[in-house]
Order: sequence, then structure tokens, then C-alpha cells
Amino acid sequence: MTDHYNFDAIIDRSQTNALAKDGYVGYLFPPDAPAIQLSHPEEDLISLWVADMAFASAPAAHDAIQARLRHPILGYTALFGDDYYNAFSGWTRKQYDWSFDQAALQLSLGVIPALFDLVDVICAPDEKIVTLTPAYGYFKHAVDYNQRVLLKSPLVQRDGVFTVDLDDLRAKVSDPAVKLFFLCHPHNPTGRLWTETELRGMAEICFENDVIIVSDEIHCDLVRTGKQHIPLASLYPDSLQIVTCMAPSKTFNLAGLMIANIIISCPEMRAKWKDRTEPFVNPISLAAAQGVYTNGAQWLDALKHYLDQNLTALKVALAEQLPKSKFDIPDATYLAWIDLSAYFPINTNLTRLFLEQAGVIVEGGEMFVADGDGWIRINVACPRSVLLAGVERIAAVVLQQQALSG
Ligand SMILES: Cc1ncc(COP(=O)(O)O)c(C=O)c1O
Repeated sequence: MTDHYNFDAIIDRSQTNALAKDGYVGYLFPPDAPAIQLSHPEEDLISLWVADMAFASAPAAHDAIQARLRHPILGYTALFGDDYYNAFSGWTRKQYDWSFDQAALQLSLGVIPALFDLVDVICAPDEKIVTLTPAYGYFKHAVDYNQRVLLKSPLVQRDGVFTVDLDDLRAKVSDPAVKLFFLCHPHNPTGRLWTETELRGMAEICFENDVIIVSDEIHCDLVRTGKQHIPLASLYPDSLQIVTCMAPSKTFNLAGLMIANIIISCPEMRAKWKDRTEPFVNPISLAAAQGVYTNGAQWLDALKHYLDQNLTALKVALAEQLPKSKFDIPDATYLAWIDLSAYFPINTNLTRLFLEQAGVIVEGGEMFVADGDGWIRINVACPRSVLLAGVERIAAVVLQQQALSG
């Protein structure tokens, strides 16, 4: 099935203003950081960082965009009529046996802008937000931007599996100033797909304390073959305390189209959201999103199969080349969260080290709010040959460093 789509093709992203290729310095390093000293030529860098894919975007998106462009007017566009709702809710019903009221569906120019807006919609200036760490960096950026306070509840590893420390979460959430819990499900960077028991454990703590949950489910379609994502809201169909964020961007490689689904079931919260946000979206993006939710399933199956194989290949390569590393294939996402702490002293900036010395762009643990020291995140959504070349270069640098320090 995979052969039908060519995930092995290496696609040159030069001249496309691609963040993955051309924007890494500004994203990964603060403006006052010392200049990067590359040991590999720029054109030889291997990009395994930001969460978009090195594969062609889903053909169903290209088809829908071309069809939309046959209409000559690209004017102001927002969500009118039923077609998009039918396509997207049809997708969630088929994938998760879950749907939601049409009125609850809002479009946004991405999950990131929605996170920024939701902090302000949900929290008064002196109220606080909780999240699990390590965490997706924009959870913190959204809180900082709005000048609110973020409380961190560290994940714990039980038998090597990241899980939620419910006692710690309860302690944080029961602070009377906490009004919002940012849940990342599946979780970036660890790749955990929270189980029903875990979801209920977290949700009930929030409900007891009147805390709203924003469940960022942007990675929900990218689960390992055979695994099943459970939307948090599907467990509590009558709850008005859950906001769900989903998008076609990760699933179908459409991040540049800037469109996301924000499902806000509470009418009062929705009214505040509408007061604060613009309803307009790009007509090309809307057409593409409708196209993939209608016709993208077969491509997604093939993609998932390729990602499963990449993750297996990565596991084998790490075991052979870096036996002291720790890595478990994630339940979901195309992000591999790898523990290299056995090789490095604390607070080593692995982003800089691997960029400068291996010519591989990865995100080190410092990019994930807290509790990421000694870890790196590798994006495996690239041709297998590229992934394995990147791992080889990383392993060579790790071993060289060890030889120097030993
Ligand atoms: C958890 C999470 N939320 C949101 C985003 C970005 O969302 P968008 O591109 O829709 O703004 C990402 C991208 O990596 C992510 O991992």
C-alpha cells in the first residue's frame, strides 16, 4: 500500500520559505545566543525538528485546492453552510465514533492562535493555567504572552512509561487561582496517547475544581496502527468544560494553510471567543481541509504504515549505535522522544551540539518548558534514508564526545 505513495522521495524545500529548512536559527535559539558555528555546509544539514513532514502533503488536499482554484474569486471566507461541518464531523465519527454540535465548531488560523485567544477568553488577569511537563513550548508562550502564570505538573515514568502524577496534578489544579488546564492528547513530546482511565483521572480533578480543559488533540490522527485515540470530549458528551482542538495540519501535512477546528461547547465561552476573534479563513485552506476530511483516509493509512516502520528502524538504529540511549516507540505522533542523558552532563544544549557538530537539526529538551534535560525530540516524518543518516551523524558525535571526555 505504501508503494502507492512515495514516502521515500527526497523533496528539496529550498525557495519555499520553509520553516523546517530556513527558519531553524530564529526558532531554536534566543536572539542574544552566540552565533551558530556549523561544521557541515548549510545545504548538507539534516532537518529532523519542527513538526511538519518532509513528505508531499496529502493528494486529497492538492485535488481540492485545484478544484477550488477553478472558481476565480478568492474573497472573504468563513464557515457558512453545512458542507465543512459534515465533512469534519463525518471524519471524527468514523475515526473516533464521536461527533459534536454544529454550533460548537469554530475555525481558527491554527491551534497556536487559538491557544493564545483561549487563555484570555477563559482566564482573568490574575488566574493561572496548569500543564503537564515536558510540554509543547507554545503552551507556555500563550500563557506568557497573556501575562498569566503557568503551573507545571511533571509527568513521571512508571516502568519506563510516561504517566500523569494525579496527586501532583490535584495539588496544582486545586489552587483556587487555576482556571485552565492545557492537556496535550496525544502528548507532544512524549507521544503518549492517554488511556480512558488516565483521561478520566485528569478530567475529574479539573471538574471538581471548576477548571476548564483545553484538550489540544492536534496529533490525534497520527496514532500507531492498531491504536485508538479517544477524544476527551467523547467521554463527557454533556460537559461544557472541555474545548477540543483538532486540525488537518499535522495529519495531512498542511501546516502552512493555517486552519484548525476549535470545538467550544459552552455557549457563553463561545460568545466570548467570537467577540475576541475573527471568523475569516483562507478559502484555499477551507477547501483543502474539507477535501482531506472527505477523501484523505487512504493516504493517512499509508502514511501511518510508513511512520510505524520509521519508528521501528529508529529503535533498531539507536539500540545498535547508542546502546545507552532510551527510546520507546510512541503510541502516537511522528515525534521520537529520546533520552540521551546517560551520555551528557546536565544542562548540555543538545540542540546546539547536534546542529553544530552533526549538522542535524533536532529539538533538545530545553525547547519543552521543563523536565526535558538530556532528551532530544526527533521528527521521523521524513524519508527513512534521511532519518537513518541523521541518527548515524548524531551517534558519531555522541561517541566522539564520550571519547573526548573519557
Ligand atoms: C501540541 C501542538 N499544538 C499545536 C501545534 C501547532 O498548531 P498550529 O500549526 O495549528 O498552529 C503543534 C505543532 O507542533 C503541536 O505539537
